[in-house]
Amino acid sequence: MPLSGKRVVLGVTGGIAAYKSIEVCRRLVDAGAHVIPVLTDAALNMVGETTFRALASEPPKTSLWSDSETIPHTHLGQTADLIIVCPATARIISDMRTGRSGDLLSATLVATEAPVIVCPAMHTEMWDHPAIQENIDVLASRGVTIVPPEEGRLAGGDIGKGRLASPEAVVDAAIGVVGSGVTVDLSGRSVLVTAGGTREPIDPVRFIGNRSTGRQGHAIADAAARAGAEVTLITTSALPNDARVQRVEVATAAELHAAVTQHATSADVVVMAAAVADFTPAATAEHKIKKGDGVPQIVLVPTVDILADLGTRKAAGELSALLVGFAAETQNVADNARSKLERKGADFIVANDVAAPNTGFAYSTNAVTVFGRDGSERPLSLRSKAEIGTELCAIIAAQLSSN
Ligand code: CTP
Repeated sequence: MPLSGKRVVLGVTGGIAAYKSIEVCRRLVDAGAHVIPVLTDAALNMVGETTFRALASEPPKTSLWSDSETIPHTHLGQTADLIIVCPATARIISDMRTGRSGDLLSATLVATEAPVIVCPAMHTEMWDHPAIQENIDVLASRGVTIVPPEEGRLAGGDIGKGRLASPEAVVDAAIGVVGSGVTVDLSGRSVLVTAGGTREPIDPVRFIGNRSTGRQGHAIADAAARAGAEVTLITTSALPNDARVQRVEVATAAELHAAVTQHATSADVVVMAAAVADFTPAATAEHKIKKGDGVPQIVLVPTVDILADLGTRKAAGELSALLVGFAAETQNVADNARSKLERKGADFIVANDVAAPNTGFAYSTNAVTVFGRDGSERPLSLRSKAEIGTELCAIIAAQLSSN
C-alpha cells in the first residue's frame, strides 16, 4: 500500500467542507497510513469526534491541554511523516504564514519539519482576497504543497472557486509527497508537461475525443513541481494541479501544438503525456448539425505529430529538451514503444498496456515500462499515478544530470 508505515497527522479546521475530511481519513487509512486526526474547536462544530475515532488509527486530538501528553504538539510535529490540513480555512492559512500557534493544530504545524499539504476550502471572495492569495504564495514558496480548491457549488448555494478538492486528489497528493520514498531534485530545471485528451470539434456541441483524463500527466507535473522544477502544464483536463505549476488550458490538437511550440524552446524536459488526436475534422460546422439533414459525412485530416515535430527540431539543433513520450497500447507494447522512440526522436517512451487491469485511462493506478533511447527498459509495476509521476521524475533527473 502506497502509504504503509507513514504517520499522517490529518488537521481538520472549521469549514463546511470538514465533512469531506472524514472520507479523506478513511482513504488515507485504506492507503496504509497511520492517521492521527487533529480537530480544531471550529471543526468540532462541523463534525463529530466519534466518527474520526471509528475511522482513524488513533483517537482524534482536540486540544493543547486536555490530552494526557503534556506537550502534544511537539510530539505530533516531530513524529509525523506528513501533515495534511483538510479543509484549510482562511484562518489556519493565515496562522501558518505568520507562525501563530494558538491551538493544537497550528502549534503542531509550527513544531514540525515534516512535509505539509494544505487543502484550502472557502468562499470564492475569500479565496480571491489578496491577503489569502499572498499567504498561499508564501506557503508554497516555503515548500508547502497546496492542493487548490475546485470550482463548484459552495455552502449557501453559491457557485464558484473554493470548493475543497476531491478526497481522491488529496490522497493522491499525499502519495505523491511521501508515498514512493523516492527523493527527486529538479531544482533549476524547466519542465513542460502536456496532459489530457484533445477534443476536435465537429460542430458547437460535438467533438471527437478519447478516454484520457489527464490524471497521469497532472501527477507528473505535480511531482516535478515538488522536486523543485519550474513547471508548465498544458492541459485539456479540468483536474486540479499543484499550486506551483503554471497551467495553460487548451482543447484541440492544434491549440496544444501551438502552446507546446511556444514553451518547448526554453524547456529542459518536455513530457508529452497528452493523448493527442491523430485526425481532426477538416471543417467545424458553424451550427449544430441536425439529424434531419441526413447522415453527416465528416472529412478528417491529419493533425501535426507534436512529439515527432519536437524530435525533428531537436535533431536540427533548434531545441535541447529531453523528450519524453507516452504510448498507450493494447498489444505488442514493447515493439510499438521502441518504434515510437525511433520514429518520434524521443529520449524516452513511457509505455503502458491500457488493456491490463487497473492501468491506463481514468484509473488512479498505472503500470508502465520506460523505454530509453539508450536501450534501457525500466518496468514500474502497478502503483498509484502519483508514484509513477515521482519515479518518472527520478529517471528524468538522473538523465539530465548525466547529460
Ligand atoms: N503525440 C503527439 N502528437 C500527435 C499524436 C501523438 O505528440 N498528433 C504524442 C503523444 O503525446 C505521445 C506519443 O506521441 O507522447 C505517442 O502517442 P500515441 O497516440 O501512442 O502514438 P501515435 O503516433 O498516435 O501512434 P498510433 O496511433 O499508431 O499508436
